[in-house]
Amino acid sequence: MESITISRKGPEIEFSYNIVWEHGFEQLANALASAALPFQKICIVTDSNVEKLYLEQVKAALAPMNKKVVSYVLPAGEENKNLNEIQKIYGFLIGEHFERKDLLIALGGGVVGDMTGFTAATYLRGIDFIQIPTTLLSQVDSSVGGKTGVDYDAYKNMVGAFYQPRLVYMNTDVLKTLPEDQFSSGMGEVLKSGLLRNREFYEWLDAYSDDILEKDSRALDHMVRECCKIKAKVVEEDPKENGVRAILNLGHTLGHAVEKLKNFTMLHGHCVGFGTAAAAWLSYRKEMISKEELDMILRLNETFSLPNSVQDLSVEDIITATKSDKKMEGGYIKFILINGIGNAIVDRSITDQDMRDALNMFMN
Ligand code: GLY
Repeated sequence: MESITISRKGPEIEFSYNIVWEHGFEQLANALASAALPFQKICIVTDSNVEKLYLEQVKAALAPMNKKVVSYVLPAGEENKNLNEIQKIYGFLIGEHFERKDLLIALGGGVVGDMTGFTAATYLRGIDFIQIPTTLLSQVDSSVGGKTGVDYDAYKNMVGAFYQPRLVYMNTDVLKTLPEDQFSSGMGEVLKSGLLRNREFYEWLDAYSDDILEKDSRALDHMVRECCKIKAKVVEEDPKENGVRAILNLGHTLGHAVEKLKNFTMLHGHCVGFGTAAAAWLSYRKEMISKEELDMILRLNETFSLPNSVQDLSVEDIITATKSDKKMEGGYIKFILINGIGNAIVDRSITDQDMRDALNMFMN
């Protein structure tokens, strides 16, 4: 079983859990046994799409543990990522007599992971949960690091908690049958990971793009692992985003604004790809990256079907939408720039005019 441990020994925040990569769900019971959790009952939380694909396989993989396993199916889609749906999960867990020592499993993409994590963080003031991410985006980003929560009206992830899972179990085979738009959305977060901390990996993504797009197992395994290693290091250093963790938001200031204005009809990773292109252009204008580096960033977006432009939105609406983002601090935007590929930094000097200039370059 390939794995790494993500851990932190204080001050204040302590956690330690394994991120496991497998081909199949069969090793789930072994991975859970290694985590040595005290549960008697398990509730698998999934959505109406993933239920059909993997729920029975995951239940079968848990059977050797001889524990009671129930499941709760959320309606699929970001529009259901709200407190109403969380309340329904609480009601289900109460009805099934779930106690503090029992376990939730998030089986699905980022929405399921964030909602299950938030339920786990708040039900009985906190019960254990594990992540089984089934999309590229959730494997390379959202399942690792303990960000949980829901949207509030059009405000993305406005209500939530930092709450770490006790295990992340990834079956990378699921990536082979992922719909193409979901795959390219995940690539938005993959490219972001390389750009922010690991130039060598970013160049590897360029060199092995054919293998990645053909879903070659070795290429996918390497790609997912490298992203998780990058994320694990950042989260270990700054679990609650008091400092360096903000670099994981590369491409997200403008990306979230577009996502919101498009009413979540444009996939998250596509919005991040667009936001990254604009952030790269601003980095170039500030002479932090060369023209060749900017061209490479735009070219890799194209290679993986990520948009370098958006249509049917107004520049001013996008700028206004950035103001209600969580990345504001004291009236300033914590904008992430690229000070050379592999080295993202937090910048507090980006003005509305800077964003306007960048957006005008990338909108038609
Ligand atoms: N997705 C950004 C973070 O986990 O901090």
